[in-house]
Amino acid sequence: MDYEVVSLCLMPSLLDDDTFPEDAKQRARGILAGCRGGSLGAYSDSPGIEIIRRHVAEYIERRDGHPSSWENIVLCAGASEGIRGTMKMMIQHDNGIKPGVMIPIPQYPLYSATIAEFNLHQIGYYLDESTNWGLDMAELERAYNEAKEVCLPKALVVINPGNPTGNVLPRENIEAVIKFAHERNLFLFADEVYQDNVYADGCKFHSFKKVLMELGEPYCHMELASFMSCSKGYMGECGLRGGYAELINLDPQVKAMYLKSISAKLCPTTLGQAVMDCVVNPPCEGDVSYEQFMSEKKAVLSSLAQRAKMVVETFNSVPGMSCNIVQGAMYAFPQIQLPPKAIEAAKAVGQAPDVFYAFQLLEKHWHMHCSRHRVWAASWNISFQNHNPATA
Ligand SMILES: Cc1ncc(COP(=O)(O)O)c(C=O)c1O
Repeated sequence: MDYEVVSLCLMPSLLDDDTFPEDAKQRARGILAGCRGGSLGAYSDSPGIEIIRRHVAEYIERRDGHPSSWENIVLCAGASEGIRGTMKMMIQHDNGIKPGVMIPIPQYPLYSATIAEFNLHQIGYYLDESTNWGLDMAELERAYNEAKEVCLPKALVVINPGNPTGNVLPRENIEAVIKFAHERNLFLFADEVYQDNVYADGCKFHSFKKVLMELGEPYCHMELASFMSCSKGYMGECGLRGGYAELINLDPQVKAMYLKSISAKLCPTTLGQAVMDCVVNPPCEGDVSYEQFMSEKKAVLSSLAQRAKMVVETFNSVPGMSCNIVQGAMYAFPQIQLPPKAIEAAKAVGQAPDVFYAFQLLEKHWHMHCSRHRVWAASWNISFQNHNPATA
């Protein structure tokens, strides 16, 4: 569906081609009508094409059952760009004290890299492997209290479902995190790019926006940025670079400055914006493409769920390895107990045992890395996004 819509947008003469379904044509016409000159080749407004921003807001309203304003939606070239643009707002060194940003450990390296690039202070809070990589409030408190001696904590990042840990936060946990952030006046970053990727029984995705709204006063006035992407979910169109940020409760002057700062980049790729439109505005019941869309979506999600299970079972069948259930996202994060001889071998070459293991994995299994398996040895984080069990 997305390729049909995007193809029609790129080559409007195909709108006369009978092989394209009518609903895909309607979507493409809607997007093109929102583009300057009726073409994807034109620059859009910096926060994105208005009709697509409106579709994103409608998607969020359907998902959460709470209002969303299209003017709070900023389209971006992948969630990464939105996250970096929002993080930039944290740069303000008061009397030489660095602003601090709380991030989970293990984390997705976009965060540590951006924090370092922007000269911010990284405040790591450790997820708890023994509770399926749970987010423990006492640990959040510890990390905050230690860091406030050396920096000015300004923001808290939560990745839910988690990369690389594959955990899905229960609602009570999200409520506790929101209250924690409120008490300390922290800006919340909710990285929710895996919101469609929840597999484990009893787990459900709860958006920070929804929980914050349902907590009511005073929490519903908190500053929050939540991020979504076309790279994950059932679309997986990561190369086309589409994403959005919903920014709520921003001070109007801060928002104005933010919009000014993104205007220097002109606009996110219109192609990525069109793909994002497909994510948030999929075929509805009664549309010609509906049945096919639903069956493809189901097939992709159930294949990912199957792979999540298969990867964990395989790890747990290997002596010395153990792995938590993958509740969501696209990753397994196993623990590897190195045998005494491997530890000795590491010592003999002057390497830490985990560094030794990672180098051995890279050197001995490089051919594997280059073929179908995406083994991220350096972090021992195994992604199954592009891994087809049929060809493994
Ligand atoms: C947690 C998380 N956030 C953000 C991103 C970036 O996604 P995008 O491709 O939309 O920039 C990724 C990509 O893997 C991710 O895992």
